[in-house]
Amino acid sequence: MQFPAVDPIPLPAPVWLFKLLHIVTLSLHFVAVEMLLGGLLLAVMLSAMRNSDHAQVLSRALARRLTVVMTYVINLGVPPLLFSQVLYGRTLYTSSVLIGLYWISIIGLLTLAYWLLYQFSARVQAGRSAWWVGLSAWVLAGVIARLLSTNMTLMLRPEVWRQMYSASAAGAYLPTGDPTLTPRWLLMLAGGLLVGGLWIVYLAGRRTFTAAEKQFAARLGGTVAALCGVVYLTAGLWAASVQPAVVKAGLATDPLYHYAGLAGYGWIALVIVAILLGAFAALGKVTAGWLGWAGAAVLLLTEIAFVVYREGVRDLTLLAKGFDVWNRAVVTNWSVVGLFLVLFVASLGVVGWLISVVARAQKPMEGAAQ
Ligand code: HEM
Repeated sequence: MQFPAVDPIPLPAPVWLFKLLHIVTLSLHFVAVEMLLGGLLLAVMLSAMRNSDHAQVLSRALARRLTVVMTYVINLGVPPLLFSQVLYGRTLYTSSVLIGLYWISIIGLLTLAYWLLYQFSARVQAGRSAWWVGLSAWVLAGVIARLLSTNMTLMLRPEVWRQMYSASAAGAYLPTGDPTLTPRWLLMLAGGLLVGGLWIVYLAGRRTFTAAEKQFAARLGGTVAALCGVVYLTAGLWAASVQPAVVKAGLATDPLYHYAGLAGYGWIALVIVAILLGAFAALGKVTAGWLGWAGAAVLLLTEIAFVVYREGVRDLTLLAKGFDVWNRAVVTNWSVVGLFLVLFVASLGVVGWLISVVARAQKPMEGAAQ
C-alpha cells in the first residue's frame, strides 16, 4: 500500500540471520544505553551531595566509567542500524526522511552530550561542582532517546506519512498522536535507573572500595534498583497495553510471534528477579561480587527478552499494514557471510580480551586522592 517499492537487489543473506544479528547487537546497544541514561543521572545526583564523602567517591567512580560506556553506546548502535536498514529500509528510510532535520540533528546532539560528559567527569575528578554539566549531558541523551523512539514508532505508521509530508517536506515536523511513543520512551528512561542501580551494586563488589563505601554503594544501588525496577515494570506493562489489538492477538497466537509474546512474559519474570536482587542488596549485608555478576547476567537476559518482544511488536504492526519482513528475495553469498561471521566473532573476542586486560590491571583505591 503506502510503502515504497522494494529494492530489486536481493538480500545477500537469509532474513533470519539478519534478524539474529540485529537482536544480539541491539540488546548490547540497549545495555550500554541504559547504563548511560541511569548511571549518568545517578552520578549527577551523587555529585550534588557535596557533604557525603562516600557519594563523592561513587560519583567519581561512575563518571570515570561513563565516558567509556558512551563509546559502547555509539559503536553498538551502528550494527543494529545497518541491520534494520537492510530489513526495514522501505519504512525506516521513509520515517527518517520525514523527520530529517531532527534525525540529522542527533549527530550534533550526540557530539555535544559526549563533550559535556567529559567535562562532567573531569570536574567530578577535580572535586569541582559538576551536577549542572552532567545534567545537561543527561537531558541531551534523553532528547536523543526521544528522537530514536519517535523514528522507531513513526516507521510503523505509514498511514500518517503522506499527511506529514504535505505539512512539511523539509523534515521539520514531528509526528503527534501515537499512543505508544511516550510509554516506550519512558520505559527506556526507567530501565536506565534499574540498570544504573544494579551497576552500583556491581561496583560495591569491587576491591577498590573500602568496606564502608561498599556498604553505602550496595544500599543505595539496591534501593534505586528495587524502586525504579517497579517503575520500569509498570512502564513496560503500559507500553504493552497500548499496542493495537491485532498486535496483541499475534503475540498470543501467531505460530512464530507467540515466541515474542513468551519473551514478554520472560521479560516480566526477569525484571522481578532484578528487583529482588536490588532489594537484597539494599539490606546492605552482602557486598559480594557474585551479587553484582548475578545482576549483570539478569539484565543482559532482560534486554534480550525485551528486544525479542519489541521485534514481535514491530513485525506484527507492519504485517497488519501490508509489510512482511520475511517476504524478500534472498540470494545468499555464503563466502561473504562466512567471512563476516569469522570477523564478527573475532571482534567480539578482541573486545572480550580488552575488557579482561582492563579487569586484570592494577587499580588504585577509588577514594584515593586524584
Ligand atoms: C546518547 C546516545 C543514544 C541514546 C540515548 C540512544 C537511545 C536509544 C533508544 C531509547 C532506543 C529505542 C527507541 C525505541 O525503540 O523506542 C534506541 C534505538 C536504537 N538506537 Fe540508540 N541511542 C543512542 C545512540 C545511538 C547511536 C549513536 C546509534 C547509531 C549509530 C544508535 C542506533 C540505534 C538504533 C539503530 C536503534 C533501533 C534499532 C531498531 O529498532 O531496529 N543509537 N536508542
